[in-house]
Amino acid sequence: DTVPKFVDPVPIPETLQPVGHQKGVPLFQITMRQVEQQLHRDFPPTTVWGYEGQYPGPTIEARVRQPILVRYLSELPITHLLPIDTSVHGAATYLPQVRTVVHLHDGELPAEADGHPEAWFTPRLTTHGPMFTTNLFRYPNRQRPTTLWYHDHAMGITRLNIYAGLAGFYLLRDENDARLDLPSGPFELPLLIQDRSFNRDGSLQYPATIPPEFFGNTNLVNGKVWPFLEVEPRRYRFRLLNGANARFYNLMLKPAISMIQIGGDGGYLKRAVAVKEILLAPAERADVIIDFTGLEGATVTMTNDAPTPFPTGTPPARHTRVVMQFRVTLPRSGRDRSRIPRDLPAGPFPRLRDVVRSRDLILDQQKDHMGRQMSLLGIRDMHGRPLPLHWGDATTEKPRLGTVEIWRLINTTVDTHPIHLHLVRFLILDRQPFDVERFRSAGELVFTGPAVPAAENERGMKDTVRANPGEVTRFAVRFGRYTGEFVWHCHILEHEDMEMMRRMEVIAEDS
Ligand code: C2O
Ligand code: CU
Repeated sequence: DTVPKFVDPVPIPETLQPVGHQKGVPLFQITMRQVEQQLHRDFPPTTVWGYEGQYPGPTIEARVRQPILVRYLSELPITHLLPIDTSVHGAATYLPQVRTVVHLHDGELPAEADGHPEAWFTPRLTTHGPMFTTNLFRYPNRQRPTTLWYHDHAMGITRLNIYAGLAGFYLLRDENDARLDLPSGPFELPLLIQDRSFNRDGSLQYPATIPPEFFGNTNLVNGKVWPFLEVEPRRYRFRLLNGANARFYNLMLKPAISMIQIGGDGGYLKRAVAVKEILLAPAERADVIIDFTGLEGATVTMTNDAPTPFPTGTPPARHTRVVMQFRVTLPRSGRDRSRIPRDLPAGPFPRLRDVVRSRDLILDQQKDHMGRQMSLLGIRDMHGRPLPLHWGDATTEKPRLGTVEIWRLINTTVDTHPIHLHLVRFLILDRQPFDVERFRSAGELVFTGPAVPAAENERGMKDTVRANPGEVTRFAVRFGRYTGEFVWHCHILEHEDMEMMRRMEVIAEDS
């Protein structure tokens, strides 16, 4: 009823090499192309879109405080690979079908390099969106080292562009981290986890009308369906990224060996923590060490049991319960000199005594003019009740540069939404259940249970937070280092395309 599992080795994306320098700054160039790729041994080749013609795109390796330049070019066709739903905001028929813009997820970037959804451009740059200023982006890399990723962000079609293959890793490293003696070189691998469905001819399958959330019936790692990885009996470091449109992954290993999580989205955790499962919503990352020492000859399967939609949907089917397999079949090439550090160079964290204001934001559901359920972000109205807002509504989040704020995400919907802010990283404080009906009808926020502090493996800087249904999720965030227009949004791509996205304008200190 499906293709055999664990017949293809997991591909490791190649590292991107600079094409030159501009005033001493390395210049990279990435061209988007439509190509055919073998996604499973038994599939006919699949047409995909890839950065540099590769899905996933090549990995960009960067160093803290060493800026780089990336020029993005598009040689994509002018007809989209997947059906466009022109009833979606920002995807109207009069617009060019193929529009792309690259966002460096978790990059602390000047607004013009952020990849604003309306800064898209067409193949060969024949035309562009209203926010477009350049296709040459300067990434300052003035932030803590972590696992970033670059992906498409074009208004109204982000779900299609990423589904077609436009995503890749960006690993930011700090020279001092070598002291941590983490597994490195061939023992450090990025793993991009996604779900996809296919037609009989091997082509990617995606509905012509936007679904509330898309869930595929196969799992891919680094662009291969249910692959395997041969490992040595030693410690490995994996950069796990959930790059799915809407599927949450609750990852576990079978046999149940623990994973040592050392980092999350925005950098290291304060303390390494041994976990049996790791829940990743779309766009979340986990930096983990898995120790295969003493497991010679064993096979270890990575599994998933997160329901779709999360958390109240149906458990995954037999096949999507499986992600990939590790085989401890390689002889050990030399001693394992890596260590698992206990304390890690996390932070800096925003200080609570620096908080200048607290903001209430709401996550709410509404029917649109076509009767479709849509989730929206918004604020509280004059009575304190939820006021969902659309992309076109005036900007309501205008934090001042350099200040610290607390955001309370008040989720009145039935889904967990992974909320992502551009430009910044934040510290999750806690989550607390509240009376949704009372809030809806009377605008009163009445808590129905204690505040639960962030999970142990969330105690590092984050850029995406799971806002659970019926809970108020609080985080502290410092708005550095650039002013200008950015966005914050739900990272379930179907929600994002259906306007669960708002502008955010960081304004100058003295304005
Ligand atoms: Cu990973 Cu606004 O996106
Ligand atoms: Cu959402």
